[in-house]
Amino acid sequence: MKRIGMLTSGGDCQGLNSTIRGVAKALYQEFGSDIEIIGFLDGYRGLIEDQAKIMSPRDFSGILTVGGTILGTSRQPFKMMQVPDENGVTKLDRMLETYKKRELDCLVILGGNGTHKSANMLRENGCNVVTLPKTIDNDLWGTDITFGYQTAIDIATDVIDKIHSTASSHSRVFVVEIMGHGAGWLTLSAGVAGGADIILIPEIPYSIDAVVNTLEKRKKNGHKFSIIAVAEGAISMEEAAMSKKEFKAARAAMTDPSIAYRLVREIAERSDVECRVVNPGHFQRGGGPCAYDRILTTRLGAAAARLIKHQQYGNMVAVRNDQIMPVPLSEVAGKLKTVPPDCEMVQTARQIGIYFGDELPKKKKDKDKKKDKDKDKKGE
Ligand code: F6P
Repeated sequence: MKRIGMLTSGGDCQGLNSTIRGVAKALYQEFGSDIEIIGFLDGYRGLIEDQAKIMSPRDFSGILTVGGTILGTSRQPFKMMQVPDENGVTKLDRMLETYKKRELDCLVILGGNGTHKSANMLRENGCNVVTLPKTIDNDLWGTDITFGYQTAIDIATDVIDKIHSTASSHSRVFVVEIMGHGAGWLTLSAGVAGGADIILIPEIPYSIDAVVNTLEKRKKNGHKFSIIAVAEGAISMEEAAMSKKEFKAARAAMTDPSIAYRLVREIAERSDVECRVVNPGHFQRGGGPCAYDRILTTRLGAAAARLIKHQQYGNMVAVRNDQIMPVPLSEVAGKLKTVPPDCEMVQTARQIGIYFGDELPKKKKDKDKKKDKDKDKKGE
């Protein structure tokens, strides 16, 4: 009898249930009644506290289109995993104890960046682990795409689409704040798909003067409204020049509720454009997966079952060039996949006239500079 533990960890997203379903159905097909799946509840907490449920094939039926996670989830910061409690016992100790007590052959872990660091720690401590890449942020290193991302793009795009009518009716500027602290993938994709006029992402620090300049230029050119898609982790050029410590202090002192509100305030201080914030927030993680994510998660889930069958543990199931393949957890853990500022999608966006807030007034042309130099030489 094979005993497989399963857990979903970190922020939820679309496609967790369809992934679990893919893994379970493929395992039942392969091993029949010779397999037992144990669902740990609320992420790593279930493993730490040995809160679990013995699953049956029926538990995995009818969940392909269901949002959230039937196992529940929680955030368990990696940095706290090896901190001893009052009895000198760490969360890691407890998880290893549960793994042993439950006589697991493998743990299937669905999660994003933090989750993968902890999964790798379990691997380093002797557990057999197979992971699956979850996050609407698409910022997990080692895979071209994470599940949840495509559905979240659809939702954020829909927000931008819908705000167009009010922006146009009222001749306003709308700032749509899109999830993503460390990486701007979702904002970039939804911004392009929704036809945003300005896209601000953490990887391309912006100048507020450039943003205001663009808004005014658009107005002068007859555009009645503008839409700014801003990632929640977008930073200004001044912030980009700060040390980590200075940046933290500056953000702690920020009185605006979020980056979108700060932008609206700063724009209002510099111009007379009427500006509003739209924050779809956790809507972006809500509901069931789109067709693309249903297919992707079924492929990923079945591939995880294959890894278990062949005992290829210690891997994340990844997508590279549309091929599903294992990537060693040791390579994935602790690395963030950010948007390369000169990537094709950014270039395409610029090419069609989307601004990124880094369009500072042009320096004097080289020709003019040479003229100035010549004048200096002549003493004019
Ligand atoms: O990691 C996914 C994510 O959706 C981020 O984009 C966002 O900043 C964060 O989760 C919000 O998390 P929480 O649910 O803890 O508010």
